[in-house]
Amino acid sequence: MSPVTIRAATAADVALLSRMGHQTFVETFVEGFKLGYSDADLAEFVPRAYGEPVIAGYLADPAFQHFIAERDDEPVGYALVGPNGLPHADARPEDGELKRIYLLKSAQGSGAGLALHRAAIGWLEAQGYKTIWLGVWSLNERAQRFYEKDGFRKVGEYRFTVGSTLDHEFIMRRG
Ligand SMILES: CC(C)(COP(=O)(O)OP(=O)(O)OC[C@H]1O[C@@H](n2cnc3c(N)ncnc32)[C@H](O)[C@@H]1OP(=O)(O)O)[C@@H](O)C(=O)NCCC(=O)NCCS
Repeated sequence: MSPVTIRAATAADVALLSRMGHQTFVETFVEGFKLGYSDADLAEFVPRAYGEPVIAGYLADPAFQHFIAERDDEPVGYALVGPNGLPHADARPEDGELKRIYLLKSAQGSGAGLALHRAAIGWLEAQGYKTIWLGVWSLNERAQRFYEKDGFRKVGEYRFTVGSTLDHEFIMRRG
C-alpha cells in the first residue's frame, strides 16, 4: 500500500472538506453505528457542521487548522484542530481541542489515522497548547482506544446536538 501523506488544508479545499465531512459523518454514525437520526435531524446538522460557508469560515480563521490525509493523491481523511470549545468546568481559554478526525471507511486501520492525529496534535503543540481536549461518542470504543494510546483520558460527559437528537458524548483530555 502506498504511504499516506498529510498536508495542511487551504481555502481551495472548502468543497473537498465539506463533502468529506458529510460523507465520513454518514459512514461513521448513520451507516456504521446506526444512530437512527431522522431526516430532519440531518437536515439541521449537516449544513451547520459541514456546509461550505461553515468550512470556509474555519479555513479563513488562523485559530483553526484542517489537515487532509492523502494516499495516491486521493483524500482519505481529515482532521480539524483549534481552541477548545467543549463544556467542562476545568476547561480554560488557553486549552486546545482536537475537534474532528475522520477517515473514509476504506482507509481505516491503514496508518492514516495515526499520521493525521500526529499532524493535528503537533500543530496544537506548536501553537503552545499544553492541555488538549476532545469529544467522542460514548460507544465509539475504537476511537476512544485510539485516543487513550496517545494519553487521553475520560474526564467528563456532555450532550452533542444533532437536530432534536442529543447524543451522549465523553470528554477526554491530555495534559
Ligand atoms: C478513529 C480513527 C481516526 C482511528 O484511525 P485508524 O487508522 O482506524 O486507527 P486504528 O485504531 O486502526 O489504529 C491504527 C494503528 O495505530 C496504532 N496506534 C494508534 N494510536 C497510537 C499511538 N498514539 N501510538 C502508537 N500506536 C498507535 C494502533 O494500535 C493501530 O495499530 P495496529 O493496527 O497494529 O493495532 C478512524 O478509525 C476513524 O476515522 N474512524 C471513524 C471516524 C471516527 O470515529 N472518528 C472519531 C470521531 S470522535
